[in-house]
Amino acid sequence: MHIGTIGAGTIARAVAAHLVAAGHRVVLSNSRGPETLSDTVSRLGPLATAGTVAEAAAAEMVFLAVPWQHVPAALAAVPAWDGRILVDTTNQLTAAPPAGYVDLGPDTGSEFVARHAPGARVVKAFNTLFARYIAPDPRHAEGRQLLFYAGDDAAAKATFRTVADEIGFAPVDAGPLREGGRLMQVGGGPLSALHALKQD
Ligand SMILES: NC(=O)c1ccc[n+]([C@@H]2O[C@H](COP(=O)([O-])OP(=O)(O)OC[C@H]3O[C@@H](n4cnc5c(N)ncnc54)[C@H](OP(=O)(O)O)[C@@H]3O)[C@@H](O)[C@H]2O)c1
Repeated sequence: MHIGTIGAGTIARAVAAHLVAAGHRVVLSNSRGPETLSDTVSRLGPLATAGTVAEAAAAEMVFLAVPWQHVPAALAAVPAWDGRILVDTTNQLTAAPPAGYVDLGPDTGSEFVARHAPGARVVKAFNTLFARYIAPDPRHAEGRQLLFYAGDDAAAKATFRTVADEIGFAPVDAGPLREGGRLMQVGGGPLSALHALKQD
């Protein structure tokens, strides 16, 4: 599959490494331009390339992996989504000290993201895991790393599930964007920071 990342930091690179290992083509992007990503993509290998945010977001499946305060600006650089899948890995952490969570009222983080990406089919995933649990091979001797995901579009979730399974995680459907997203949300969601293995 043709996959993009908006953001090329810790999470985007960890996910991209699994994707290229499974044979997917990945275009990574950041705020500073493709020329700043040559080392990153060369470490990932020939299936990884660098692009602008708009180029990365033209892929069939796009991972959003930017700090919370940059979500609106990053998504504003995407012309139109036209039903492509947006996998939201973000957590609504405050940008400035003291460390904490941004209060969105009744909305979940991914509903906020979805409002900034009209036309995208949003799937929430990877936000519940610390990077050190995402980066290694999720296939451990004791079982596969659980990967919770949530979303409102059944077909988008099925596509995401196939990719997640293929790269070695044990995907677990947490429900719709609001209810599942709330379970997965930082600041009290019971699935947040729950690192667990599934025995196959
Ligand atoms: N790290 C974790 O353990 C972890 C776990 C789960 C979820 N998350 C969530 O995942 C998200 C990414 O975290 P991270 O640790 O990967 O962050 P990171 O290492 O700081 O990387 C952030 C990336 O976002 C890019 N970026 C910033 N503004 C942008 C914009 N306007 N357009 C395009 N790219 C932009 C940055 O590029 P520039 O260098 O060009 O600014 C950088 O490549 C956050 O929401 C975080 O809460 C993190």
